[in-house]
Amino acid sequence: MTSKIAFVLGAGPNIGHDVSKMFAGHGYKVAIVNRSGVGASEYFKVKADLKDPLAVASAFKQVRDALGEPNVVIYNAFARHFVPDDDAFSLATSTFQADLAINVSSLYAALQETVEGWRDLATSPKVFIFTGNGLNVAGAVPQLLTYGVGKTAAAHLIEAAVRSYGSQGYNFYYADERNPDGSPVKQDRDAYAHAETYFQLAEEPEQGPWDYTFVKSKGFSKF
Ligand SMILES: NC(=O)c1ccc[n+]([C@@H]2O[C@H](COP(=O)([O-])OP(=O)(O)OC[C@H]3O[C@@H](n4cnc5c(N)ncnc54)[C@H](OP(=O)(O)O)[C@@H]3O)[C@@H](O)[C@H]2O)c1
Repeated sequence: MTSKIAFVLGAGPNIGHDVSKMFAGHGYKVAIVNRSGVGASEYFKVKADLKDPLAVASAFKQVRDALGEPNVVIYNAFARHFVPDDDAFSLATSTFQADLAINVSSLYAALQETVEGWRDLATSPKVFIFTGNGLNVAGAVPQLLTYGVGKTAAAHLIEAAVRSYGSQGYNFYYADERNPDGSPVKQDRDAYAHAETYFQLAEEPEQGPWDYTFVKSKGFSKF
């Protein structure tokens, strides 16, 4: 039996590491993208900077040529610049543009490549997971402008994906780990909880709530 394929765009030492390890541990072939080119020897590694949305098509081509069409695609990369709360627009326009390229445009390119590739893919699952946080529903946080604009736009893209392609058996999630009281986990994110959750979502044939707020050791929790 041919292995299923998981493709993690933005794989570093935390969430990307645990998610990749989880899928590999369940027999998936794993491909990863990051700027350093660093990753476990058994993974197919693509060294690319998602600051360039055009790099996404090339990354997918490399993965297709080496492993085949990904069943599970995880977009975990992000860009963030802090600005003073009382000067939200102090970031250079070029920096705003670069952050949004990583947070939004390359996500769009990855979604486009994914659904195009799934048209001719005979095997299941077909699941796309974006690593989000609570900024899509928090309202504007001036200090985190490009991060918040990015997560809000990402949630919009994921919801659009469900509405547009959900009937074809493709599943899409904006995954958002929360504390049990619903507050954001911020730097206390649990990489293993993400890995467990993402694997469960990949195993689930039916689309669940696309805005997938989850709590460690508990699973989906609506806030
Ligand atoms: N639910 C929450 O409250 C919460 C809290 C914290 C974080 N998060 C989310 O978790 C995700 C990141 O998690 P993490 O830091 O633990 O994951 P990680 O896998 O440890 O790190 C993400 C990796 O993405 C790669 N990356 C970043 N920018 C890139 C680019 N321009 N091109 C290619 N690769 C790039 C980096 O590797 P290289 O340096 O090698 O490129 C980085 O190590 C983000 O989406 C973040 O918003 C959510």
